[in-house]
Amino acid sequence: MSEVKGGINRNLALELLRVTEAGALAAAPLQGRGNKVAADARAVEAIRAALADVDMRGTVVIGEGEKDEAPMLYFGEKIGNGLEPEVDVAVDPIEGTSLTASGLPGAISVVALAERGSMFTTHVHYMQKLVVGRRARGVIDLEMPVEWNLRRIAKAEGLPAQELTVVVLERDRNKDVIAQIREVGARIKLISAGDVAGALEAALETRFGIHCMMGSGGATEGVLAACAIKTIGGDMQAKLVFKDKDERELAVKEGHQPDRVLCIDDLCSGDDIFFAATGITSGELLHGVRYEDVYAYTQSMVLRSTSGTMRIVDAYHPIDKLRAKGLLPEQVAIR
Ligand code: FBP
Repeated sequence: MSEVKGGINRNLALELLRVTEAGALAAAPLQGRGNKVAADARAVEAIRAALADVDMRGTVVIGEGEKDEAPMLYFGEKIGNGLEPEVDVAVDPIEGTSLTASGLPGAISVVALAERGSMFTTHVHYMQKLVVGRRARGVIDLEMPVEWNLRRIAKAEGLPAQELTVVVLERDRNKDVIAQIREVGARIKLISAGDVAGALEAALETRFGIHCMMGSGGATEGVLAACAIKTIGGDMQAKLVFKDKDERELAVKEGHQPDRVLCIDDLCSGDDIFFAATGITSGELLHGVRYEDVYAYTQSMVLRSTSGTMRIVDAYHPIDKLRAKGLLPEQVAIR
């Protein structure tokens, strides 16, 4: 990691809002069309173009493309218009490509920025994650059993453990975690994809009735979630998960201690964090893109760590202007 530079005195999050809106607006016309690569390609292109206009010297330090061999904003790609500040960028133009391609709820377009050298970076695909909201900050330990954590979270929340709701990505590799949660008797919300939104719902527990996220998911999504959770004031721990010996060696080559529990400050050590997410398909966290008469409607979440402000922004984009910008091609019939 390079050295963290001084404060960023502009609200870049509002500029990022335009970026994720562009990503969502580009992807949404392909909702439910069964082609996740095409949707991703459109979102990547739109996000890349929108990021190019932002006053910053950005470097993509963690992204998604390589995992899917999809169109990507690649690791190390320089973005922004080259002016100060110098920042790390974590980006997922479509978090939930399969959700988008199937027209299922919960896909978002998401970007985070923080001071250069402050974000965790890896090419390892997965992380074990444990996310809680503000009230349970400081009580979790990923090295301890699921039951131990749930009992501590329940105490911090002032609830019996059976009244907790835990969000978990439904995967075979999470079967054991799911069984342990059921053993305790807590409720589970299984999601088929989209654990950045799941992590945010857990961190914003009082708004969504989710108290915790557990299980393994994408590493990029882990870093993106950590950036948001740090601004919201929740807590997160993570640990790299290796598919095989080669991935473990990769982590060592990258300079990581492979079995170390990563705390939220290890995932993002920055103090100036900016995060934006825009709904593509409607989910609990955000409404998806809707086409209403002459406007395309978007809903976004914008976070800035220094002020701690969370903005939920409803925006109406004239459809004719979107067409002119190529964000809504004529050949995509929308009504
Ligand atoms: P997409 O690649 O379809 O955007 O899926 C995103 C996601 O579901 C994340 O939310 C999650 O962290 C990761 O994929 C899990 O990876 P996998 O689907 O390989 O288990």
